[in-house]
Amino acid sequence: MLKEIFEQPKTIENALRGRIDLDESTPKFGGLNMSISELRSVDRIVIAACGTSWHAGLIGEYLFEEFAHIRTEVDYASEFRYRNPPLDKNPLVLVITQSGETADTLAGLRESRRRGHKVLALCNVVGSTIAREADGGIYLHAGPEIGVASTKAFTSQVAVLTLFALFMGRIRMLSNQRGSQMLRALEGIPAQVQSILSRDLEIKEIALRYAHCEDFFFLGRQYNFPVALEGALKLKEISYIHAEGYPSAEMKHGPIAMIDEKTPTVFVIPSDAVYEKAYSNLEEIKARKGPVIAIATEENTRIRSKADDVIFIPRTLDPLYPLLAVLPLQLLAYHIAVARGCDVDKPRNLAKSVTVE
Ligand code: M6R
Repeated sequence: MLKEIFEQPKTIENALRGRIDLDESTPKFGGLNMSISELRSVDRIVIAACGTSWHAGLIGEYLFEEFAHIRTEVDYASEFRYRNPPLDKNPLVLVITQSGETADTLAGLRESRRRGHKVLALCNVVGSTIAREADGGIYLHAGPEIGVASTKAFTSQVAVLTLFALFMGRIRMLSNQRGSQMLRALEGIPAQVQSILSRDLEIKEIALRYAHCEDFFFLGRQYNFPVALEGALKLKEISYIHAEGYPSAEMKHGPIAMIDEKTPTVFVIPSDAVYEKAYSNLEEIKARKGPVIAIATEENTRIRSKADDVIFIPRTLDPLYPLLAVLPLQLLAYHIAVARGCDVDKPRNLAKSVTVE
């Protein structure tokens, strides 16, 4: 798992390689197998996936809506396969999967194709069942992911979703200037990820201070809400600690009752458009004596006086923060699990690919 976490500067670079056309300020892809006019007429995107891939899909929802103004919904593949959603004339079904063999995702793909919908797959394993059966797709190029806890596949999925959302935007209404700004910022992500990884020791020290805790909350807003879900899943699956992810503003509707001095919150709070709102959510946690580990943007000195611990990430554009913010969460989960004597590469009760229903 640690090896795969540390591969991410390279794997994100591989996901972007050859897919950025700066002259035209647009991403480009080889394997979509759909014409520009077919893609332009898509009026709804339905994403089906499981686990970590579902979390990437949730980020995709924000991306497609912001950059391409396409209505997007994200479903657990296990629910999607048995629903009967009324889909409009030109839906595009997007399945996201590292392995390409997940039974529920494959069933969702088959059901969609039976109904005549186009299905694109975002997949890592070349030649896998889902890659073969989809109408087209985009490979992640993350290399084999062996760790049961998915790490590098997630950042590759988010990188590819960002490219695809920008592509769908550029064939519609997204300006050349905004496209180019996003693509340039994306190209800077691998080096920024590297700089976060270089703080591993500092993150380990923080992890050790919290390794004895039995309950955690993970909070974030907007683009970073799915990152919070992903942080909670990583901790659960390899350390067996109870963890819950929430959009931070949702805490006051019930879960904040759980907060006390023994229940730490990992708060993803970069300096983005919702920072001030998130900051007051963070103050609400502190007012209940909850310890807070903040994942914040460098230069944010104010957060130090409020949070108990801070892990800084570099500044980027709002939609790209998930690609940075998830790194400290992966490392926190890893170090906490190791400190508790857990075998992170063989977590109990889990298989790498879930090929049964
Ligand atoms: O291979 P897939 O992406 O389709 O797998 C989906 C989930 O089974 C997978 O992401 C699972 O949740 C991981 N163990 C998460 O770390």
